[in-house]
Amino acid sequence: MTTLIIGAGLIGSQIANILVTQGEKPVLMDRSAQPEALGEIVDLSRVVLVSGDVLRPFHLADVFRRHGITRIIHMAANPLLTLGAQADPFAAIELNIMGTVNVLEAARINGIKRVVVASSNVLNHFIAGGQGKGDPTKEEAYPRPTTFYASTKQAMESLGLNYARWCGLEFGAVRYGAVAGPWSGRGGGGPSNVVREAIENALRGAEALVPANGLEWVYSKDAAMGTVRALESEKLGTGVFNITMGYVCTPDELADAIRAAVPGAKVRIEMPVQGAVALPQMLAGSDLTLARDVLGFTPTYRMREAVADLTQWIRSRAAR
Ligand SMILES: NC(=O)c1ccc[n+]([C@@H]2O[C@H](COP(=O)([O-])OP(=O)(O)OC[C@H]3O[C@@H](n4cnc5c(N)ncnc54)[C@H](O)[C@@H]3O)[C@@H](O)[C@H]2O)c1
Repeated sequence: MTTLIIGAGLIGSQIANILVTQGEKPVLMDRSAQPEALGEIVDLSRVVLVSGDVLRPFHLADVFRRHGITRIIHMAANPLLTLGAQADPFAAIELNIMGTVNVLEAARINGIKRVVVASSNVLNHFIAGGQGKGDPTKEEAYPRPTTFYASTKQAMESLGLNYARWCGLEFGAVRYGAVAGPWSGRGGGGPSNVVREAIENALRGAEALVPANGLEWVYSKDAAMGTVRALESEKLGTGVFNITMGYVCTPDELADAIRAAVPGAKVRIEMPVQGAVALPQMLAGSDLTLARDVLGFTPTYRMREAVADLTQWIRSRAAR
């Protein structure tokens, strides 16, 4: 059994680490891997790292042929997620949608049983409309995504579910909250970097800036665990699962978590940068019932524990 992880960044690195801990030697494929950052999260001697672009089907064919891939986790991301897709819609649409189609086709042709892809809880929060209240005779029966990134995630889920329906694959989409966690390379989304920078600033005695919106998060180690559960769950079949902390963390809670991890930290809650995509007003956390019942997933980290763990990682890195 060999797992292919496409995208070796903030979350893919943690997934690889879990699989290695379980005794696997996963194959990580990335268009522009960052081995230094990756090596801080997972022992590079216990993974196979290959260069490859998910937008080039023959790269996938080559990896399948050489490494005997039996399961796929698709984690490639357009730079800066929502913000990046607003700045360069075509690139994000091409990567997220056609990259996923390439993965699903490769799985279909090679008889791979299960594919797990990263979706996002932007589909729970960046949506509007739905005045038709689910009545399929109305044009606006269902809410629609309000950003390019969310539109691509909706397409990825929908295509995967149809590959499962028509082509005999098992398909899981994991909808992460905003992900924070250990990672020293480029990547992640806007919020991922905001939390790390806030802690780094607090540790060096500078002002730690926290966005003035509540957000639903997930710690990268929990995101990875939820993903591995989706890969391995006997009950999966096919489906979409919320993988988040399950609640909206307020700016005050995030600020308190930073002060608890870095005593004496100077924290300022500020409005998001002008011109950025407005963060949605998140009123309620995502429902984790399905993730718990089907995948056996419940998050280990709330924001306070997540910030404590990340702070500890940043401190130990600095001490090296
Ligand atoms: N970070 C978050 O806050 C967050 C939240 C919700 C969902 N997600 C989703 O989770 C997944 C992983 O996100 P992440 O934060 O680990 O991202 P990341 O940017 O840290 O890692 C993504 C990796 O994909 C690689 N990549 C990009 N284009 C590629 C291509 N064409 N072929 C091969 N590799 C390619 C990049 O080089 C990078 O190493 C993405 O699908 C993302 O949309 C992330």
